[in-house]
Amino acid sequence: MTSEELSAKTPATKTEKKYGLIGYPLKHSFSKKYFTEKFEKLGYTNYVYELYPLPNISDLPDLLKANPELCGLNVTIPHKIGVMFYLDTISPEAKAVDAVNCIKIIKANPLQNFFCGEISMNKVRLEGYNTDVYGFEESLKPLLKSHHKKALVLGNGGAARAVFYVLKNLNIDYDVVSRRANAKQYSYEQLDEKIMKEHTLIINTTPLGTFPNVDDAPDIPYEFIGSGHLLYDLVYNPSETTFLRKGKERGATIKNGLEMLHLQAEKNWQIWNE
Ligand SMILES: NC(=O)c1ccc[n+]([C@@H]2O[C@H](COP(=O)([O-])OP(=O)(O)OC[C@H]3O[C@@H](n4cnc5c(N)ncnc54)[C@H](OP(=O)(O)O)[C@@H]3O)[C@@H](O)[C@H]2O)c1
Repeated sequence: MTSEELSAKTPATKTEKKYGLIGYPLKHSFSKKYFTEKFEKLGYTNYVYELYPLPNISDLPDLLKANPELCGLNVTIPHKIGVMFYLDTISPEAKAVDAVNCIKIIKANPLQNFFCGEISMNKVRLEGYNTDVYGFEESLKPLLKSHHKKALVLGNGGAARAVFYVLKNLNIDYDVVSRRANAKQYSYEQLDEKIMKEHTLIINTTPLGTFPNVDDAPDIPYEFIGSGHLLYDLVYNPSETTFLRKGKERGATIKNGLEMLHLQAEKNWQIWNE
């Protein structure tokens, strides 16, 4: 048998490229399903996307050593901030948002580094990005009208930081609504007709309404929402949350977080392949 015949008969089982998700604990993962299906569709039989539950981010160097085929990682709770200490570069968006959710792993060539003036003997170079920013901005922009000048951001957690960054970028003024009222943010009880009518873009960054708690919704006065409002929910499961349904019933334009999720995933893929 010739070597061509032999290689044609050998199944492509060798793992050539690995991607994955680090976080802890890791339960169901959108990214694993998304990329596994993508590799299947593309016929990339030697690409895999794995889950790497990592209780301590200090275990990252060992994970990289044990998996030299890793080319890219997604990062989720609780490591989005802590991972930054292990990266060689961090994109301006990720720095501003103070969270990295995508890492590109570049195999470094120590000899080449030496001739470029770098004395680093690191075997890999790690670049950090925040792709939620891209996903949110690109999914919001097509829906914006000239009267969407002020936004209310419900919740002040990790995802809200990507939203703040995008709103600043788009020159949209925003106010934050939080369970912890202070001079800089409204409480839910403070929301009145004037505030609701002034802020025609309302973005839910709280997990309220996520399956299975589908009857939950942010406690805002929905009666002041009208056809000029745009309600954006970062929650994507269910596709129409109670927050969105209540807005739709009053004529508002609504948008869930599914496109944001897909756009951020595709942005990861683009970064890993650049
Ligand atoms: N579509 C996408 O691509 C995408 C991307 C990222 C995140 N998400 C979704 O966005 C949501 C938020 O993510 P996150 O990581 O920012 O979550 P998080 O940090 O757990 O929560 C965000 C904020 O929501 C508020 N909140 C939490 N529980 C609440 C409650 N019971 N009642 C009222 N407010 C509450 C809190 O703000 P205050 O303490 O200030 O009230 C909290 O800081 C999640 O559902 C996540 O799945 C979607």
